[in-house]
Amino acid sequence: ATIAVLNGPNLNLLGIREPGHYGNKTLDDIRQTLANMAEGFQHRLVFHQTNAEHEIVGQVHQAYHDGVDFIIINPAAFTHTSVALRDALLATRIPFIEVHLSNVHAREPFRKHSYFSDIAKGVISGLGATGYELALRAAHQILAERH
Ligand code: DQA
Repeated sequence: ATIAVLNGPNLNLLGIREPGHYGNKTLDDIRQTLANMAEGFQHRLVFHQTNAEHEIVGQVHQAYHDGVDFIIINPAAFTHTSVALRDALLATRIPFIEVHLSNVHAREPFRKHSYFSDIAKGVISGLGATGYELALRAAHQILAERH
């Protein structure tokens, strides 16, 4: 199957950005780990990061056109703001898991609300880069059970 991993704004700065919240791994470290795992599971992995809302909306549309089976998404700050990204996921009906490196419930109150959690298959928050790996394992299992 094909799995897309989509990352929102400022995640390109992982490794240098607030390591107390986001850890020391770079987004490229995460990408490499997921690529190795996906190969083991015999899935095709596509991986994107963008700082622009219209681009991540476009990546969801593209995922639909490319027949992507599952999305793992860290919408980053768009989590708390983007009706447009929510609508894109609803429109395409691609199942997805929402991932956050930090525990959004242990931070500022505005991070508690997500435009995605109620329509996600599941939500992982606070487990750092491991959260992406757990999401990929869960996606693999959900896709296997689908058939
Ligand atoms: C984040 C949490 C968001 O609140 C924040 O805006 C981010 C990253 C996380 O991975 O912990 O940019 O999604």
